[in-house]
Amino acid sequence: MKSVIDEGVKSPERFEYDPTVTREYCEKAIRYILKKIDENLEFFTYKFPAPASVNNVYPAIDNTDWTSSFWTGMLWLAFEVTREARYRKAAEIQLESYKERIESRRETNTHDLGFLYTLSCVAAYKLTGNEEAKTIALKAADTLMERYFEKAGIIQAWGDLNDPEQRGRMIIDCCMNLPLLYWAADITGERKYYDAAYSHAIQAAAYIIREDASSFHTYYMDIETGAPRYGKTHQGFSDQSCWTRGQAWGLYGFALGYVYNRDGEILALNKKVINYFINRLPKDYVAYWDLIFTEGNEEKDSSGTAIAACGMLEMAKHLPLTDPYKRIYENAALKIVKSLTDNYTSQSYPASNGVLLHAVYGKPQGAGVDECNIWGDYCYFEALVRLTRDWKLYW
Ligand code: GLY
Repeated sequence: MKSVIDEGVKSPERFEYDPTVTREYCEKAIRYILKKIDENLEFFTYKFPAPASVNNVYPAIDNTDWTSSFWTGMLWLAFEVTREARYRKAAEIQLESYKERIESRRETNTHDLGFLYTLSCVAAYKLTGNEEAKTIALKAADTLMERYFEKAGIIQAWGDLNDPEQRGRMIIDCCMNLPLLYWAADITGERKYYDAAYSHAIQAAAYIIREDASSFHTYYMDIETGAPRYGKTHQGFSDQSCWTRGQAWGLYGFALGYVYNRDGEILALNKKVINYFINRLPKDYVAYWDLIFTEGNEEKDSSGTAIAACGMLEMAKHLPLTDPYKRIYENAALKIVKSLTDNYTSQSYPASNGVLLHAVYGKPQGAGVDECNIWGDYCYFEALVRLTRDWKLYW
């Protein structure tokens, strides 16, 4: 593995244990999320929230985007926390649309089949033993495998496999789509899923992560020769900057990957990736939309920060008690959750149907800037569930 700089954590005193984030504090935050889910439940049973809100209100869309499952995942979390059948029922109604989507191959030209089918169907199978959900998720895993280019050892992120603009392009976010393949390998006993997922993780670690432990958003590989080509941003500030959400998907995805691949080298690299993120957290522990910014008037990305909190909590699980980063990552997650809870929820804007305000979907595209992002709501909820319960991964 190439040599990557470890910045360490530059101001560890910022990440001391915060005793105010008690169990009761987190339960109260969860009750607020449940209230928002209840307000939206009818509206979003046969429809889904759009990826980003408009004026802090999510429009309703069909199951067509890459983000549907964050809402379904919130329903599963709500069911786990409350055991109330109505959440399970709504999630189960939604499974039909995931089935139809994969069977008709509608909007399936994307690596985000991982997100889509993990938080919906894999979660259903793990929580309720739903065999049909398992079959649908395996079908999604097979469709995802079609995007794997053997020679380059990567999964192409977006678009048609013959589109010259997208050919051989992998993106950091894909680390979060790999658990679907690892899971499929476990369920079927077929190694090909594991091999593809693990190979992609190795290539992402080798090429998407830069020598300073930051990440490119996207990276082109030559699919004929397997050679690395060049990095390019899509949603970040520039090709050389580090897009906040990309770094967050990466650090969470590498930590989740360890559950399956037990690769100590990637785990060690992931500490450096996390440290890079932690060192760029501004005063209130909520990152700007690109890590090139650490102060000023740029927008924050509450969603990327919530993802990172989940990633740090997952990472901490895999570090021994003797490793000082274990506590630092747990405490950093607490600081983030506290800041999000105290200053970023829609309690300050009750007309919103979202949970977390102040996220950015795609600043260069002018999409969802300073809005709610549905994956942020999901990850904030997941982080709170992680902090209050012995939560078993959907991933
Ligand atoms: N995976 C795309 C995004 O985070 O916007």
